[in-house]
Amino acid sequence: MKSGIMSLIFALYLTVMVVTANSDSNYYGTTKPVHLKEEKVTRLHFYLHDILSGRNPSAVRIAHANLTGGADSAVGFGSLFAMDDPLTVGPGKDSKEIGNGRGMYVSGSKDIRKFTIVMYADLAFTTGKFNGSSISVFSRNPVAEEAGEREIGIVGGRGKFRMARGFVNIKTHQIDMKTGDAVLRYDATVYHY
Ligand SMILES: *[C@@H]1O[C@H](CO)[C@@H](O)[C@H](O)[C@H]1NC(C)=O
Ligand SMILES: *[C@@H]1O[C@H](CO)[C@@H](O)[C@H](O)[C@H]1NC(C)=O
Repeated sequence: MKSGIMSLIFALYLTVMVVTANSDSNYYGTTKPVHLKEEKVTRLHFYLHDILSGRNPSAVRIAHANLTGGADSAVGFGSLFAMDDPLTVGPGKDSKEIGNGRGMYVSGSKDIRKFTIVMYADLAFTTGKFNGSSISVFSRNPVAEEAGEREIGIVGGRGKFRMARGFVNIKTHQIDMKTGDAVLRYDATVYHY
């Protein structure tokens, strides 16, 4: 009899424990099936200006290795850049600005002939239908493979591009080999909900 009461108390105690655990001490909620909306595709076309030279550069080197050249080798393996590159509708410097690409890129190939950067960037739009939305790029960008079109991957996004996936075809519109300043055409295909 006594043990019966004890086990009842114990069972109540467990119940209280479980309820408490569910309400305050778990770090997870319930797992439920999702009913995703129909996926849509949006194509975006713009130009990204990556300006390293002058008094007001949009990309700056923030670190580099002591391995492959010093200050004279801007593109050396191990150079890391921070970027706040304007995005415009046309290729011209004074073309209408529609957003900015912020983040970092690192020179990621030891073989200088296969110059590659790896980008970790958020390309955000500040006007029009996608004002406040952005696409997240986390990708290798094989700059030296200019013969064909090169491609970078889109792994996510914000706002209207929440949970986006896709890719961007990039073409160099203009590059100054001396300074590294470049204007690139971005043609993005974005799958989102
Ligand atoms: C960087 O490399 C130079 C030349 O090899 C060397 O003299 C210098 O000590 C190195 N600096 C550091 C911090 O390793
Ligand atoms: C874009 O969105 C921001 C924040 O909501 C707003 O302040 C701004 O006026 C908008 N710009 C345009 C051009 O719609």
